[in-house]
Amino acid sequence: MNASSLTDFHRPSYHFLPAANWMNDPNGVIQWNGRYHLFYQYNPDGAYHANMHWGHAVSDDLLHWQELPVAIAPTPDSPDQGGIFSGSTVDDKGTPTAFYTGVNDDYTVQVQCLATGNDDLTRWEKYAGNPVIGEVPPEMEQTEEFRDPYVWRSDEGWYMTVGSRIAGIGGAVLLYRSSNLRDWEYLNPLFVGQRARNAYMFECPNFFPLDDKWVLIISAQFINHQRSTMLYYVGRFENHRFIPESEGVFDSGRAYASLTHVDEQGRRLLYSWLREERDVAAQREAGWSGVQAIPRVLSLDGRGRLCSQPVPEFKTLRHSHQSYQAGELDAERLPIGGLALDIEAELDVTAGVCGLEVAVAPQGEEKTAILYEPSTQTLRIQRRYDPDVPHIDSALQGLTHPLDDGEKLQLRILLDGSVLEVIANQRTNITSRIYPSQPQNSGLRLVNPAAMQRLDVWKVSSIWS
Ligand code: FRU
Repeated sequence: MNASSLTDFHRPSYHFLPAANWMNDPNGVIQWNGRYHLFYQYNPDGAYHANMHWGHAVSDDLLHWQELPVAIAPTPDSPDQGGIFSGSTVDDKGTPTAFYTGVNDDYTVQVQCLATGNDDLTRWEKYAGNPVIGEVPPEMEQTEEFRDPYVWRSDEGWYMTVGSRIAGIGGAVLLYRSSNLRDWEYLNPLFVGQRARNAYMFECPNFFPLDDKWVLIISAQFINHQRSTMLYYVGRFENHRFIPESEGVFDSGRAYASLTHVDEQGRRLLYSWLREERDVAAQREAGWSGVQAIPRVLSLDGRGRLCSQPVPEFKTLRHSHQSYQAGELDAERLPIGGLALDIEAELDVTAGVCGLEVAVAPQGEEKTAILYEPSTQTLRIQRRYDPDVPHIDSALQGLTHPLDDGEKLQLRILLDGSVLEVIANQRTNITSRIYPSQPQNSGLRLVNPAAMQRLDVWKVSSIWS
């Protein structure tokens, strides 16, 4: 940590981010010899997106991460001279094998590359035959968008999906097969989207079995990038095509570019980049940009909805527990507050619009409301901050969240400096970024206390000693 982080109350204290500089997508996540390895898009030169490397951090518990030296850097006069873009890592009979997209200086050439790692994944040797996939399939028309290889093993060998787009049609996930991880055969598009409906480009595809279904998660990039969002599809994998049966928005807020893997306990874990929402000048000034979400465990409910919850390990960071039952809560402002909280609330939405406010200023002039509106079945995040701080986007965030018959609204809220992860009934996610103007703007308040059935609030310990 640098000295300024001690006074930077927007900087998270229990979410991972490197000591300084820019970070975006999680890359190559894998559990190796028991330890969790997280690689990530990283710019060693500053808090802005350029000169992509794979940064590296390691953890024994998915909570406390140790930042290690950069794992993979661009090589001049090579297929990755302009940057090491996103990708994944697999275990090839004991050899850690990473796939990433190599780019040229202006990103107009994007090719898939391979590197093998040593035993603690700190040194990586690039394959002399790179790129392993040097061009988009001829039938795709010319597109330079061709990136984010995601590799997995099946009984028939190895598969890879790559994110791309088909001009005039929409985002596409391309499917490849290999027996040796070096020679790849293009099969067909696994899945093609519709530009007007779900974006013009699919980034960071993840395709994996969960229970008896297959799940496709994509980061859907709309042209103005502002609306880029994470979508999921649940369905069948037949004849090398994915047939969706249900779909949803995974996170309508700032979570993006998720990457999953299965750990030694057999859990399908999901990591996500939490994007900033202040302008690039403010990010450069802060000296850091980008945060990793608390890793989540994925599951499906009986209705084909993708569910997630923070890894249970996370509960060990909780302390100073306050618990309230229905009727015990008439005061709107609660005696507990802070900017590092974990909150579980159960609400009866028949009482009307209800929810909580966090990061509330002493006089209430700044706050972030997490609201449920029963008439529209919408979960909203409404941020109100100092209008004189124009670089902060306070747009309303919202997503429909229909409750099943008789179902109560369950909210899980992780607040950590400028990070706000909101999960409703394990299936609806809005991740927000908030930038209060003062550290004392940290109160917690109820909206419509009559709706509250149960409320548990914990403070959360910092992961940095
Ligand atoms: C997603 C993404 C990927 C790309 C990487 C570059 O955020 O645009 O498609 O590989 O970031 O940093």
